[in-house]
Amino acid sequence: MKVFAPGRVNLIGDHTDYAGGLVLPMAVHLGTTIVGTRGGGRLSLTSDHADGRWESFVSAVADEVGDHDGFVGHVSSTLPIGAGLSSSASLTVAVALALGAQGDVAALCQRAEQRATGVPCGRMDQLASVHGVEGHALLIDCSTYAITPVPMPPAGEVEVVVVHSGEERVLASGAYARRRAELEAGDERRVRHVASENDRVRAFADALIAGDVVTAGSLMVASHESLRDDYDVSTPALDALVARLCAVRGVFGARLTGAGFGGCVVALTVPGAVRGEGWIVRSSAGAWVSD
Ligand code: GLA
Repeated sequence: MKVFAPGRVNLIGDHTDYAGGLVLPMAVHLGTTIVGTRGGGRLSLTSDHADGRWESFVSAVADEVGDHDGFVGHVSSTLPIGAGLSSSASLTVAVALALGAQGDVAALCQRAEQRATGVPCGRMDQLASVHGVEGHALLIDCSTYAITPVPMPPAGEVEVVVVHSGEERVLASGAYARRRAELEAGDERRVRHVASENDRVRAFADALIAGDVVTAGSLMVASHESLRDDYDVSTPALDALVARLCAVRGVFGARLTGAGFGGCVVALTVPGAVRGEGWIVRSSAGAWVSD
């Protein structure tokens, strides 16, 4: 049996999912693959990249799935680990499907991720990995988790490029929980970010549908500024990278993507505008299982 679960890049709408707001991620062609056999009652997975953190995700998923038939197999990943492309959500979704998880797999994997890391993450990453649609980004309303696929402009017209800032997201977990607590306590700046970001996600989806990539790009820049100034999750390295990419001819816009505090920047560009760095990501269908 083979399982594939994609990672995701979030085009716009960060730090809104746990506030019941809007997000617009795209499942990408990079992800986690598990090959093996279900049954035998025992869970045993090998990986080229296994470490303590990896093992804690696998056992948290097994705990959430509960009674399972077991699975023996090997895990491999084409995602850069810890870079902001949801390598952990992709891993948890792949393990859950390998174990035959039923029902709301995204919710199960969100609980597993919270259990493994102690970080009160939202559900965007898991939803994108489970429900991705090729050729589309996903507009997700996190107050209901309703998903509306939004067509991406053809690959010949735009490219989505992800570039690492070179900064690991070392302080991310504590700071993420703090931002969430500040928002829930009604901090004015944090609330202002969520409200303005929701407006930008709506406008971005409309711009994509209209094929207006120039407007989409400037909304990405405005999103970055709000994450920097109102939500305070950017870093000098992320700001410098966004500024450098935006100065490149053919780049419509760029912003930090995911939690921030280091990690990656996503840019929307004319094909070929950014070369020699980062990953050009293509949209992908959601996770699948085959015999
Ligand atoms: C991380 C979390 C998501 C989301 C983003 C920020 O990726 O796992 O739930 O909150 O940060 O948008």
